[in-house]
Amino acid sequence: MQNFQFYNPTRIIFGQDTISQLATYLPKGARILIVYGGQSAINNGTLDEVKTTLAPDFYYQAFGGIEPNPHFETLLKAVDIVKKHKIDFLLAVGGGSVIDGTKFIAQAALYRDDPWKILTKTGVEVKDALPLATVLTLPATGSEMNCRGVITRAETQEKLSFRTELIFPQFSILDPSKTYSLPKRQLENGIVDSFVHTLEQYLTYPVDAKVTDYFAEGILKTLLEIAPDVIHKPDDYQARANFMWAATLALNGILATGVPEDWATHRIGHELTALYGLDHARTLALILPVLWSLKKEEKRAKLLQYALRIWGITSGTDDEKIDSAIEKTVHFFQSLGMKNTLADYGISKDVDLLVARLEQHGHTALGEQGNITLTISRQILERI
Ligand code: NZQ
Ligand code: ZN
Repeated sequence: MQNFQFYNPTRIIFGQDTISQLATYLPKGARILIVYGGQSAINNGTLDEVKTTLAPDFYYQAFGGIEPNPHFETLLKAVDIVKKHKIDFLLAVGGGSVIDGTKFIAQAALYRDDPWKILTKTGVEVKDALPLATVLTLPATGSEMNCRGVITRAETQEKLSFRTELIFPQFSILDPSKTYSLPKRQLENGIVDSFVHTLEQYLTYPVDAKVTDYFAEGILKTLLEIAPDVIHKPDDYQARANFMWAATLALNGILATGVPEDWATHRIGHELTALYGLDHARTLALILPVLWSLKKEEKRAKLLQYALRIWGITSGTDDEKIDSAIEKTVHFFQSLGMKNTLADYGISKDVDLLVARLEQHGHTALGEQGNITLTISRQILERI
């Protein structure tokens, strides 16, 4: 097992009707900005429920309109509101985009330099951020219990990430019944995103981290088991509850304890979303199986462990077992509406431009061994 530190201060308040506890955990006298996305939190009643809990004890403003793949440009408008109304606490109500956007607002509101530098990480370091909390409506990203975020600049079609302990949510409310209104496409995306988060931390090379491996395998098996009920039974509380908790655990840091991490699939995927607007999870489902095929030798031991423990594959040569595990993964993704190529989504790719973007963003040595060079990324992009 590798050396590690684990730190996660986010309180999770989990279960049906837990939004009613919101006010209990807010700092007394807080001046709050509620941040939300398009219409979903209004239509399913979550926003009203939140406002009812806040009134009349808290001063609040609301800022809506955060896009999926939240835009830098929109978030700056929220920063103006924070400053104008002397807001000192942010409350995200929504999915990963709203939460990531809120994490960005928390930093930008107190940042004295050009806020784009928060993403390019050039110049002044972020030293402070407003406190925040979340009410999650879409299980997928784990953003409700981690200190990461991904922001898109519409003007330049760039999608960049940040990570700082300053933006761990103080608490997150996870009510699985708030997911009942999710469209099928977002449920599919959420399952695939959390499945791939788990794999980006699990499917590298063995370091005898037994606890972390069994945790990861437990999450993979849970997602495989509940996926049909999540998709086909819109009000199956137990399926939604297990989905929500699995998605949170997939990216709250616990699966990274003592193990190497990959993340190449995510880095390459962000470039596809930035240029073509394809849903985050759909980019991952395209890239991951191709990356595994190209990196079969380096990932051999873990691919065999995955084949045996997740898919129960015991017959054939090692190569056949690995190929079968990759094929079963692809079938699982297909069962969730994922397609096999960019062309299947009607996207005509520009591989040279995508490779140039990876280079521009410093993604020239990706993966757990740092050996996913631009040449390998190009091979992946050519095959999807
Ligand atoms: O905008 P509204 O109207 O709220 O609709 C949203 C949006 O259209 C809708 N939705 C959310 N909750 C709903 C609902 N519709 C009906 N009922 C509900 N209960 O779903 C759509 C997608 O929402 P979005 O927040 O964009 O999805 P997701 O949670 O998958 O977040 C994706 C973003 O998170 C980033 C992605 O790159 C992408 O920008 N990620 C963040 C990570 C992190 N912070 O750790 C890690 C991930 O790998 C990922 O990169
Ligand atoms: Zn992801």
